[in-house]
Order: sequence, then structure tokens, then C-alpha cells
Amino acid sequence: MVQRYVMSIDQGTTSTRCILFDARGRLVSVVQREHQQHFPRPGWVEHDATEIWRNLARIVPQALADAGATADQIVGLGIANQRETTVLWDRHTGNPVGRAIVWQDTRTDAMLEQLAREPGADRVRQLCGLPLATYFSAPRIRWMLDRTPGLRERAERGDVLFGTIESWLIWKLTGGVHVTDVTNASRTMLMNLRTLSWDDELLGFFGVPRAMLPEIRSSTEVYGTTSEVVPGIRIAAALGDQQAALFGQTCFAPGEAKCTYGTGSFLLLNTGPEPVLSTHGMLTTVGFKIGDEPAVYALEGSIAVTGSLVQWFRDGLELIGSAPEIETLARTVDDNGGCYIVPAFSGLFAPHWHSEARGVIAGLTSYITKGHLARAVLEATGWQTREVVDAMNADSGLALKTLKVDGGMTADNLLMQFVADVLDVPVVRPMVAETVSLGAAYAAGLSVGYWPDLEGLRRNWHRAGQWLPAMDPARRTTEYGHWRQAVELTFGWMR
Ligand code: G3P
Repeated sequence: MVQRYVMSIDQGTTSTRCILFDARGRLVSVVQREHQQHFPRPGWVEHDATEIWRNLARIVPQALADAGATADQIVGLGIANQRETTVLWDRHTGNPVGRAIVWQDTRTDAMLEQLAREPGADRVRQLCGLPLATYFSAPRIRWMLDRTPGLRERAERGDVLFGTIESWLIWKLTGGVHVTDVTNASRTMLMNLRTLSWDDELLGFFGVPRAMLPEIRSSTEVYGTTSEVVPGIRIAAALGDQQAALFGQTCFAPGEAKCTYGTGSFLLLNTGPEPVLSTHGMLTTVGFKIGDEPAVYALEGSIAVTGSLVQWFRDGLELIGSAPEIETLARTVDDNGGCYIVPAFSGLFAPHWHSEARGVIAGLTSYITKGHLARAVLEATGWQTREVVDAMNADSGLALKTLKVDGGMTADNLLMQFVADVLDVPVVRPMVAETVSLGAAYAAGLSVGYWPDLEGLRRNWHRAGQWLPAMDPARRTTEYGHWRQAVELTFGWMR
């Protein structure tokens, strides 16, 4: 019998990955390519959308070849993507207008301060579930339209299009289908959370012309068929990568939560069919929407810098040669020696939302070695998770009982133990660590009937690792206090 597979593309902040999964959710082939990070000024982060597209065009045929498969064996393609990153392109030439502005970029900081004083600013969060912060797409669209002569007029005529990365890739793959999925749309600040359509009040507030926006569709439906790269594959699902991980972790029921540890870390809690507005610095976002069924919402605690702090330790400070070495280095000492690193490289995200915050290393003495710094780097991820979980518990009125984790950093046992210690709950990791890719594959497979229902997907989830809390409560309280003092130091830096 001819084997059939689901294809999944995870277009992330640092790389693009194509994975083929079989019916039991097992990886059949994996191909990945990194793309360049551009840092033209402090706080600016850009990607070349054409480079990302070219990478995709190389990895998709390779993934098929590695599996010995052809396009007709692919039942559907699911796309998961870095969210909020903003691409503008010319409808006629298909070329991007400038570089894509990445979710970590803080250039819109001053513009947002001004917008916060304008009429309607107090309505934004209520309408789209997001605080006014540099993280999201709409301020970036405005920034580009304001600064490139003639661009706004072209956008108003529909000659220049906007999309987050999945929208750009679907447009390229299909030769012109301009759509986005509802989870990605929920990160733009332009979509009304309740109607799930572009909101005139928000479009007016940010000055974004409707003509440049993609059509909002559900997360699981066939948007079109590929005509480029490998023709004939149905594009059957798209989700923001963190929502894809929620799906891949099978957090289908209200109260289920996961945290993905990648460049940044993102904790999402399924809150069911009604949006819950946060009063503690969480985001309200769409978790997923399966075809015509009602949307499922989530509360999200977004942490901008976790894995990228390890990258900086490796590439910026050159204190380790590869990311996994951080654990070895951290284990050369027993504790952090009183040192704390708050990596506010892109300001501070949840629960603080201080765009102007900048990072600090606190508690330096001549006693501190690079081993202590390595510990402080890992602990920063643990403490940031703790802040988010505290806020999430306060919003939901329930205490998190266990945390499902995934992503590259979960390979670090010292870190996972520390997360369990500071949260004081068990931390569990599933068998398939590629949860983002798996979630996109699940959504695509569900969309085309490859998998019958959510229950079938749940049965594929198996626990591979567990860490139980072991920290002395008094020590936890004292060290959390130190962390919070260090966080205070990042606010209003160099104003
Ligand atoms: O919101 C940003 C997030 O989607 C990026 O995730 O894993 O590509 O860094 P990642």
C-alpha cells in the first residue's frame, strides 16, 4: 500500500524546518535551514523574506526526497510560523518591500508612546486583547507606511500587501492566494477578538488600509494548492507557532496549558470558547479554530528572551562554543553566586510590558565566574516562567497543577529541574519534542480527514520526561525576591 504523510513547515525566528509525519505522528524526514538575523541598529531586528522563501523552496523537495515520497503521497501541508513578524510585498512583482520587521524589534517604541495618548487608545486592549507594545504587527505596518514615500498610496490601492509569515508563504506557494489564519490575525492588533474580522476602529487607530490585508480564515481548512516549489500539495492548515504547539501538546480542553522554550518562551492556557481579558499582563489570543467550529481562546504569557539569551552567551560573549555547553558550564558551580541576569533585550514582555526596559546583570562581585553567569542565564528562564505563571494563576483564579513543556531548551535537565523548583509544580515533556511542527501537522491532518478527531490525536501524546519540584521553599522565596529586585533595575533605563 502506498504510504501517505502529512507535511509540516515550521517557519521560526532563526530557521525553517520541513518535517513529514506518518499516521502515528512519527517523524519520517526532517530538513532545516537557518536564515540570517539582521541587527541594523540597537533594538532593530530584521529578516529577508526572500531568503526565507528560498530556504523553503530548498527544504520541501529535500524532505520529500529523504522520505522517498512524491507530492501525491502528501495528504496536506500545515504551516506554523513565527508570529507578528511583518512582511509587506508588491502584489505585482511578488517582491518584499524592504526587510521583514521581526517580533523582537523595538523601533516602534516612541511611536507607541505617542499613540497611547491618542483618543481610542484605551479601547485597543478591549477590542484585540493585546496591550500597546512593540511586539505586535500593526505599529510596524504603520511605521513602514509612514516612512517610505508613496507606500501608503500603493497600500490603499491594494498594490502593496501585508502578511505575517504564513500569509507570505501561502501567497508565494499558491501564486497569489492572500489569506491568514485567525491565530496569526489575532497577533496583529487589527482583528476584533469577538467577531474574528478586521476591525474598523483598530484600522483607523493604527492608520492601516484594509485593502492591504489578507482574508482571515480558520486554522484548519484548505486555503489552496501549491503551484510553486512542489506543485499539487493542498495547504490545509496554518497556525502561529505557539498556537501550533498548544495543538501539538493536545491542550484541547479549557485549563490545559503548555510552555514552549525556544528563542523566547510562550506559555498558553486554553480558556475555551469565550475570550478572557487579563488584568495581570497576559495576552488574550485565539488558540485555534477548527473549520466552522467556534474559536477556542487562550491566555498567553509571552517571554521575549530565553533561548536567545543562551545564543547571546555563545555568540556575543563567546563564553561557550555550542548552546548545550551552557548546562555543563553551569554545573561547574553550585549556585548563581548572588548573580542575576534580566535579559530585557526587547524590553520586557509579560507580565510587565515595558518596551523601554533594558537588560541588567545584577549582583556582580569578583567572586563571580563564567559558571555563575551560565547559571544566571538558565535561571533567568526559570524566573521569567514563574512571573508568567503567577500572573496566569491570578487571571484564571486557578493554580496551575502541572506544566507541559516542549522546545529546544527542554533538553537542558538543569533548567527543567529549576523550572519545576521555582514553579513548585511537576514539569512534563512529551515524546515528540518537535511540538510546533507536530501541531501544524495535526491541524492539517485533521483538516483533510487523515486523523478523524481530537481524541485520536490525544492518544498519540506520550510522556517522555518529568521533573518534580525539590527546592527548599524558604530559598525559593528569597531568590524570587532577589530576581524581582533585579527586574526593577531594568525599568526606565537611560531615559
Ligand atoms: O511570538 C513570537 C513567536 O511566535 C516566536 O517563536 O519559536 O519562532 O522564536 P519562535
